[in-house]
Amino acid sequence: MRAIRLSYNKQIVTLDFLGTLERSHKCGDLRSSHSGNTVTLMGWVNRRRDHGDLIFLDVRDRTGITQVVFDKSVSPEAHAKAEAARPEFVVAVTGAVRDRGEGLRNPKMLTGDIEVVGSELLLLNDAKTPPFPIADDAPITNEEIRLKYRYLDLRRPELQKNFALRHKVTRAIRDFLSDNSFLEIETPLLTRSTPEGARDYLVPSRVHPGHFYALPQSPQIFKQILMISGFDRYFQIARCFRDEDLRADRQPDFTQIDLETTFPQQSTIFRIVEGFLRAAFKAGGIDLPEVSFLQMTYDEAIAKYGIDKPDMRLPAMVDLSAELTAELRGTLKIDATLPVYGFTIPRVGALSGTQRRALVDEIRKGFGDCGLDFLDVARLRTNEAFMPLAEAIAAKLTAEQIVFCGENFTTDDLAVVITPKPGTPVAWNQDKQWIAKRVGGLRLELAKKYADKHKLFEQTGTAKDFRFLWVTDFPMYEWNEEHKAWDAAHHPFTSPHEEDIKSGALWNDKGSVRALAYDIVLNGTELGSGSIRIHRQDVQAEIFRTLGMSNEEAHERFGFFLDALEYGTPPHGGIALGLDRIVMILAGASSLREVIAFPKTAKAIDLMVDAPTPVSEAQMRELNLRIAHRS
Ligand code: AMO
Repeated sequence: MRAIRLSYNKQIVTLDFLGTLERSHKCGDLRSSHSGNTVTLMGWVNRRRDHGDLIFLDVRDRTGITQVVFDKSVSPEAHAKAEAARPEFVVAVTGAVRDRGEGLRNPKMLTGDIEVVGSELLLLNDAKTPPFPIADDAPITNEEIRLKYRYLDLRRPELQKNFALRHKVTRAIRDFLSDNSFLEIETPLLTRSTPEGARDYLVPSRVHPGHFYALPQSPQIFKQILMISGFDRYFQIARCFRDEDLRADRQPDFTQIDLETTFPQQSTIFRIVEGFLRAAFKAGGIDLPEVSFLQMTYDEAIAKYGIDKPDMRLPAMVDLSAELTAELRGTLKIDATLPVYGFTIPRVGALSGTQRRALVDEIRKGFGDCGLDFLDVARLRTNEAFMPLAEAIAAKLTAEQIVFCGENFTTDDLAVVITPKPGTPVAWNQDKQWIAKRVGGLRLELAKKYADKHKLFEQTGTAKDFRFLWVTDFPMYEWNEEHKAWDAAHHPFTSPHEEDIKSGALWNDKGSVRALAYDIVLNGTELGSGSIRIHRQDVQAEIFRTLGMSNEEAHERFGFFLDALEYGTPPHGGIALGLDRIVMILAGASSLREVIAFPKTAKAIDLMVDAPTPVSEAQMRELNLRIAHRS
């Protein structure tokens, strides 16, 4: 290999070969106890400071950074090369470890007690100036550039930390499940559609013209078949693919911790998940207490939080329906059956009158025209007729929502009452919980917006930051107004409650059927979903029928599975948790992109490899494909 000449500071320096040199330590290893040792470190130049006769190179690898000093009077040759070195050059340094001495220590660095006095420096490779600084701790705001140069972005200590965490968490989960008799079994990536509610990514078959594989949205059917095959306990760290609208917590390809077991009660699954989450969090430095996670039914979650994934760091909403007398309902023209909710927004009392009105307008706008109205309790107080209501509400809100407002709650904090607008909105007939849901959504938005005031979302690095919740008893079906049909609320393999089968509700009162489905929620994010499955062919056929799937269609799509159900299928159930989401929350990151090595943009593009791309005519011909429309 030819050595490359470098030209810096008018000097000509030649790139070095590694030869037989090996590193003796990593850049995060050295402490005062190593003083006097001769060491060899290899890594990237993080920063370079030139003080003339003394040049400092901070050398970085995955484990940390070590300061190396080159003294011209001691090692002139190494000093000359250090003069040529620039950030991100790859170097090998040999030198003696020296204690920095009092006053010169850097407590922010693991290796801050020592430095290496460099006697030899090899410049193993040079580097172009990176498009953003690697050494800075400051967040880089231009995400496109970060993703395009992901190999450089991944060099940043923050991301290196996230991937070390991801590894530890994955390993802890794998160990826990293995220790609890789960077998790790891989299922195919080239398969056929699994109904998880998103669009499929399709792969054309070359040898079967006009035929396509689907990439799995989840291993759902395969894991159920493994239960039929008698594997008893299965798990997989499974790659899944979904073509859906992307958000901060959604990627088109992502990873699930997927598991299934035979003969479980719901509580069996809860114990397993709580066990591996405890192990995973321990690996991430958080000791979760040895108590079962809180549980709440879906109906309770909606009534109290207006959402099926409550953030338990916030207190519940307050149902004010009882405070509204028939007379007041008459004046406000609110139907006697409609609920009225209240909550508070802290610290707006400190705003001026104009700012306060602007906030009120903004909240009003947040309602759009969905049939809800907003009342400022302070304004109610100024109206003789509403005075008793205002007082009652203020007292109730003060007592129940004091946590939300923090210790210094004052009556100046904005108390909000949400009422349905006069005239019952249409949506009311389809979903009796829509008011609670809308109010819950708005409340969450405001809680996020004022997070710096109430500080309830602040991470303190302890178990208190992580509020887990099981949400149970989801409805079996959701009414799809657009298609005027029932959709499966979880997926069509979920078992209804045994009582709802026995009572006949499964056939007669579909809207009331409860599913043996559960979600694990952490700080308002759905970490995972699962269910006890249908193991009887007759029940499975009825669910397909309700979902509008004819016998023929069900057999065409899932015939193999319906057949398998007829050969002695045991009761079984399971769950899948988003691994990326667990690591994201544990790392305190705000997007999955911080914990997925090569993520895609919100438009599902991989900016580094530039995918997706058109393919050649020849390849299209080979696959028997032709582009009909190009938008
Ligand atoms: P579900 O579709 O709810 O259930 O998915 C389970 C968990 O996977 C994660 N997840 C995602 N993470 C990142 N990006 C995405 N696009 C994405 N979609 C889902 C979430 C979610 O809670 N087969 C069932 C599970 C079962 O019944 O056992 C399933 O896949 O954290």
